[in-house]
Amino acid sequence: MQACDGCCCGTARKHPGVDHAEQRERLQAAARHGGGRYRTVGCLDVCHASNVVVVRRPDGKRVWFGRVLDAATLDALCDWIGRGAPPELPDRLTAHAFEPSAAPVQLTARP
Ligand code: FES
Repeated sequence: MQACDGCCCGTARKHPGVDHAEQRERLQAAARHGGGRYRTVGCLDVCHASNVVVVRRPDGKRVWFGRVLDAATLDALCDWIGRGAPPELPDRLTAHAFEPSAAPVQLTARP
C-alpha cells in the first residue's frame, strides 16, 4: 500500500483538522495485519483527490482511493486492507475509488 504524503496529501495546510499521523499509523497497522507492506510516497499528481491511498491487491490490481479524510472512510479502508484487500469493495469505499488516468476525476465521496 502506498499512502501519498506529498505537497497536499497528509498536510494540515490543505486538510486542517485531519489527524494525518494517526491516519498513517492506522494504515500501516492495517497493511501489516493484512499481510502487506506500507510506505509513504511523494505526490502522485492527483492532488485534487487528496488524501490519496493506493492499495495493490493480492491479484496485482491497484485500487486508488481519494478523499480519505474522515473517520468512517478510514475505518472502512483499514478494515478492508486488514482483510487482505479482497476484490469486493465495501459500499463505503466505492465512492472513494477512482482511476487516476481519467481526468478530471469527480469524486463523489462523502465529507
Ligand atoms: S500530494 Fe498526494 S496526489 Fe499530490
